[in-house]
Amino acid sequence: MDIEKVNSMDFGEFVDVFGNVIERCPLIAAAVWSQRPFSNLEDLEKHFFAFIDALPQSGQEGILRCHPDLAGRELQRGTLTAESQREQRGAGLTSLNADERLQLAELNAQYRARFGFPFVLAARLSDRAAVPRELARRLHCPPAQELRTALGEVKKIGHLRLADLLGAEQTL
Ligand code: GUN
Repeated sequence: MDIEKVNSMDFGEFVDVFGNVIERCPLIAAAVWSQRPFSNLEDLEKHFFAFIDALPQSGQEGILRCHPDLAGRELQRGTLTAESQREQRGAGLTSLNADERLQLAELNAQYRARFGFPFVLAARLSDRAAVPRELARRLHCPPAQELRTALGEVKKIGHLRLADLLGAEQTL
C-alpha cells in the first residue's frame, strides 16, 4: 500500500486499516486521520507517536492496559487480536510447556501488581527464552523508568505493524 492510497482513505477505512497499530486503541488512528495528508510512512508514524507522547500519564497507562498479557488467558481462549496472535506465535509463546506458562503467569502477575499495567514487550523482536528474562529484569526498574520503557515497546510494536501495512522494509 503506498502513501497516496493512505491519504485517499475516508475516516472509516483509515480506522479499519490502522485501528490496531496501537493495540486496541482505534481512537489514536481516529485522531491521526485528521492530520492527513502524510508525506510517507515515517510521517504517518510520527503522528501516532506524537499522540501517545502528548497524553497525560493516566492516558499513557491506559494504552498499556489495552494490551493483553503475553502468553496469558486471552491467548489460551483465542481472543487476541490478529496482530497480537501473530506476534506471540512468532515469539514461540503459543508453544510453551506448562512450566513455562506458569512461570510467565507468575511474573506477569507480579509485574502488574507492582506497576498497575501489563508487561508490554515487542514480542516480534524477542523469543520464548528472552521474554521471562526481560520480564524479571524490568520488574525491578523504577516505575517512572518502566513507564518510559513500556511506551517505547508500544512504539516498536506500532512501527512493525505500520511497516507491515505499508509493505516497507523494517528497520528498528
Ligand atoms: N507485544 C506484541 N504484542 C503484544 C501484546 O499484544 N501484548 C503484550 N503484552 N506485548 C505485546
